[in-house]
Amino acid sequence: MKRHIVMIGMMGAGKTAVGSELARQLRVSFTDSDAEIETAAAMSVSEIFARDGEAFFRDRETQILARILQGRPGVVSTGGGAWMQAGNRELIAARGLSVWLKCDLVTLWQRVRQRSTRPLLRTADPKGTLARLIEQRYPTYAEADITFDANSNDSIETAARRLIAQIRREVPGLLEAK
Ligand code: S3P
Repeated sequence: MKRHIVMIGMMGAGKTAVGSELARQLRVSFTDSDAEIETAAAMSVSEIFARDGEAFFRDRETQILARILQGRPGVVSTGGGAWMQAGNRELIAARGLSVWLKCDLVTLWQRVRQRSTRPLLRTADPKGTLARLIEQRYPTYAEADITFDANSNDSIETAARRLIAQIRREVPGLLEAK
């Protein structure tokens, strides 16, 4: 693979699940930027938000993303806010193919409502917050190279296969090129 495949989209869209399976099927490495930030800081994303604030987290996110993208091409999953920074979009465009896992509110809410690991959703009305983030972010997510329908009830394995087929159709040669 010549470029990284970079998964973008909302929390709960399946960036880590589909991304790691995609990497397995393509036999390339998988890196999750949130997990790398947590390892480097020896703290969870929630702890970083609580202790140092979102702006600090965003700086770390950009640094880590730049470092990951300098490495050998693989599949990279990003946190939902990463694509919203113009500088990050430029970094990703320079070294990768961006894939938006597009998902509607109903599906996202089903996937995130059980978990308390998302600091941005610790509000009085988390579903409303999710809806607002969708409204704010979707026009920018739509700038990704590829838009993948992540609503389906496909297994993770089938979703990854479907994504490979879509990449082959829309960007011929990307997966084969050395
Ligand atoms: C965020 C998404 C999270 C994490 C942080 C902020 C966002 O990642 O980076 O909580 O701004 O949407 P996931 O999309 O992997 O949940």
